[in-house]
Amino acid sequence: MINYTLSENILKAEDFIRLKVSAGFKERPVDFVKSALKNNLYDVVALVNDEVVGMGRLVGDGVMYWYLQEIVVLPEYQGQGIGTAIVNKLLDYITEHTPEGNFTCVGLTAAEGKEGFSERFGFAKSRGMNKYIVREGMTD
Ligand SMILES: CC(C)(COP(=O)(O)OP(=O)(O)OC[C@H]1O[C@@H](n2cnc3c(N)ncnc32)[C@H](O)[C@@H]1OP(=O)(O)O)[C@@H](O)C(=O)NCCC(=O)NCCS
Repeated sequence: MINYTLSENILKAEDFIRLKVSAGFKERPVDFVKSALKNNLYDVVALVNDEVVGMGRLVGDGVMYWYLQEIVVLPEYQGQGIGTAIVNKLLDYITEHTPEGNFTCVGLTAAEGKEGFSERFGFAKSRGMNKYIVREGMTD
């Protein structure tokens, strides 16, 4: 069993970019990422020997609507329960911040081929739709 710890609200732009690139996503400018992370409601990182090997963050209004974003574990650390632990910690945070007798809505956009992972936590397909706005000057 791998030895890792989970830490809250210490996600840095540099680690975010490194993990996203490891998962095959496009590299985003560091200042752009820093601005985005400032608006996190909450984030969780998995650490092995002080290295960030996994992450997940929550965005939303913090009351009625929550979104799980950027659930990523470095390829060499996958399949050892880290992704599950991160998602469970994010969901626990939402539960703790949902008043008794009420409900909130949690969204997640599953990466292609990862729908099964999301379904394990009770996420179900909906009619949610996404649109990307791409400004001129974007390079590959
Ligand atoms: C998705 C991801 C975060 C899972 O992280 P992980 O640390 O490997 O997750 P776990 O080790 O906790 O594995 C969770 C379980 O889900 C299963 N699983 C993983 N991907 C799956 C899929 N596409 N369909 C069904 N089950 C899947 C694993 O087999 C494992 O099952 P087990 O607990 O019975 O062994 C990781 O694969 C990743 O970073 N992928 C690239 C980024 C990405 O796609 N993120 C979006 C996720 S919606």
